Amino acid sequence: MRWSSRIACLLAVLLLCVPAVYTEPPRIVERASARYKMGTPTDPGGSGKFYMGREISVVMGHQGAGWLERPEREKEEQPKKLLQMLDLKPGMVVADIGAGSGYYSFRLAEKVGTKGKVLAVDIQKEMLAIIRKRMKKNKVENIEPILGTETDPKLPAGGVDLVLMVDVYHEFAFPYEMTEALIQALKPGGRLVFVEFRREDEKVPILLAHKMTEKQVRAEMAPHPLQHVKTIEALPWQHVIIFEKKDKQRRNDPASGGARAHCK
Ligand SMILES: C[S@@+](CC[C@H](N)C(=O)[O-])C[C@H]1O[C@@H](n2cnc3c(N)ncnc32)[C@H](O)[C@@H]1O
Repeated sequence: MRWSSRIACLLAVLLLCVPAVYTEPPRIVERASARYKMGTPTDPGGSGKFYMGREISVVMGHQGAGWLERPEREKEEQPKKLLQMLDLKPGMVVADIGAGSGYYSFRLAEKVGTKGKVLAVDIQKEMLAIIRKRMKKNKVENIEPILGTETDPKLPAGGVDLVLMVDVYHEFAFPYEMTEALIQALKPGGRLVFVEFRREDEKVPILLAHKMTEKQVRAEMAPHPLQHVKTIEALPWQHVIIFEKKDKQRRNDPASGGARAHCK
């Protein structure tokens, strides 16, 4: 082949490859911008990005990991009571999304036992490093730390019995995409559990963007193949809102009601 033909071939290959390399990130931004609106932050904990009328909060940095382990949490959040509500069984696979320092991961690991597993997902590698260090120190082997991204928790498809999100969902930069990915990871009938500070209660001393109303959580889950199972209002400050993954048949059948309840 002559040099001029070789150069022409090389240019053609480059022209074909370069758009393939660069199309993915702009596509994500485009998809996001149709769903999300940018504006002025309305709260010190707000990001200025809005989804379905709610301002997404900023992400709590790993520098605040000590706050997650504060002893007052026992009284404020009653973790034992929360875990009882989840009906956990030995052998279950539970995903602790936004695991932080592992406050709940280690408690969950005890409940699911050595035959079960806790997939501790976070987007900050520093949080996962804290979890790994604690695993080593306490000889815990049934936790798997996973570095997720803002849109992908990197979970095995159809491999999870229960997804727990304690004080996390309101931080998701891409709540729609994360919810889709979490549903993909659930087994049929698997549960998705939100534990969010009650925005309806002004006495709960948390920044507004870090609190959610039950109505807002349910509105944001409405586009997804999920069935609301129950909302439990038995913790001092937080809602516990439980959804179940719909099976394919029920997803396309508006007549199939399913269990709905609101517990006090
Ligand atoms: C307020 S902390 C709560 C930590 C833990 N759940 C607890 O209750 O102790 C929120 C955590 O969610 C993580 N996070 C935010 N967005 C996330 C996402 N898209 N996927 C996974 N983790 C995320 C943050 O990095 C942070 O560690």
